Amino acid sequence: MNEPHPKSISPARIQNMIARESETFLSKHPKSITLAEQTQHNFLFGVPLHWMADWNTPVPLFVARAQGAEFTCVDGHQFIDFCLGDTGAMFGHSPQAVANALKTQSERGYTTMLPTADAATAGRALSERFGLPYWQMATTATDANRFALRWARAITGRKKLLVFNGCYHGTIDDVFVDLDAHDVSAPATMRASLLGQVYDLTQFSDVVEFNDIEAVKAKLASNEFACVLTEPALTNCGMVLPAEGFLRELRAVCNATNTLLIFDETHTISAGYSGYTGICYAQDGFLPDMIIAGKAIAGGIPCAVYGMSETVAQRARAAKEAAPAGHSGIGTTLSGNMLTMALLATNLNEVATESAFITMIARQTQLSEGMQSIIAHHQLPWNVTQLGARSEFQFCPTSPRNGSEAELAMDDGLERAVHLHLLNRGIMITPFHNMTLVCPDTSQAHIEQFLNAFEACLAELTSV
Ligand SMILES: Cc1ncc(COP(=O)(O)O)c(C=O)c1O
Repeated sequence: MNEPHPKSISPARIQNMIARESETFLSKHPKSITLAEQTQHNFLFGVPLHWMADWNTPVPLFVARAQGAEFTCVDGHQFIDFCLGDTGAMFGHSPQAVANALKTQSERGYTTMLPTADAATAGRALSERFGLPYWQMATTATDANRFALRWARAITGRKKLLVFNGCYHGTIDDVFVDLDAHDVSAPATMRASLLGQVYDLTQFSDVVEFNDIEAVKAKLASNEFACVLTEPALTNCGMVLPAEGFLRELRAVCNATNTLLIFDETHTISAGYSGYTGICYAQDGFLPDMIIAGKAIAGGIPCAVYGMSETVAQRARAAKEAAPAGHSGIGTTLSGNMLTMALLATNLNEVATESAFITMIARQTQLSEGMQSIIAHHQLPWNVTQLGARSEFQFCPTSPRNGSEAELAMDDGLERAVHLHLLNRGIMITPFHNMTLVCPDTSQAHIEQFLNAFEACLAELTSV
């Protein structure tokens, strides 16, 4: 039997849906509109961070409160949250144990520039979970990446960094180098959208496609690279999973060229209790040299960590001792403060547990399979890629193999239509791509509500 032809969706239909759903949104959110008018006077772009104005809504959606898997906006509408602060709230909004720890610590002080007993608890929990013995604190995953890169350069004496096309590791300058998705053989360029970038990033940063081990080998053969910094699966250009054996071979090439391998697990911790690192260790018995984790690691308050192997730690100590006294360029005043350490220890030991991951991954599997079958029913050339508790639906028939394929599958108009349609039916997914994340509080009913809304959206987009 012949396969049914995949359906295409006309641009006019997409534009109609955007126009109608935008109107619906505005009619339902008078208080958000009023607040948006007020904040226009005091915040650049009318929002605390400029990209908060880039969501798919006609005005920013102002939130009143968030709890578990849900939030309520200032107009009193309730939403099921599948964005979860783009991972920050992966373990639910205000998890109870973290909220209790916050209350307790609020009477014990926030910041002294000195360690507390929680350092012992948190350090042990991190080492046991990820398998790397030594850890340091940062306040954001951006900073953790920045500091890890400094250590890598300091201990190897090499200046260059290799990243993968389509990567995002926060606003650390060095990673913003791109290939042209339409001509990947063209020289790498700096990301065109960067503001205020004054030095040439391509001097010390280079980029190849994910899953292209030959390209990695060709670059690292020069023995000039301090490290390869990557998410074990790309999650910021849509989602790209590692091909069978790719990470194992990446580890081997890094070993052969004395290049450090750094896994940024900020998002990929969704893969399981020990992140994707746990999968690599279980399947192939290897660990990266350094690991970054942030966002969700302390239950959603600003906190990030980075870990290193015994060897990296020895070399880091030697580099520090060999350097003159003074600023290292690593660390910030509030990183590792008393409050953060208390919440980190609590979140690791009481919230982000093995059983929480089992629940989350089972729910996400249900969600992903449900989406996939709705997509198939409507004969759309889309696919769903799952990474533990998170998944991404993408506008291409099979999961992309690299950043360029993921980029070429993006469709801003279609994305806007789908996001707005879902939002007006009480479902929020991550902006700027199509990620859904579930937390331990995401229930069977939440999944069913999502799937009903998704079905209605696709039915409308494909109806004749
Ligand atoms: C993989 C990865 N690393 C690091 C970061 C930076 O996190 P933050 O914005 O909290 O500094 C992000 C942000 O999205 C990310 O996706």
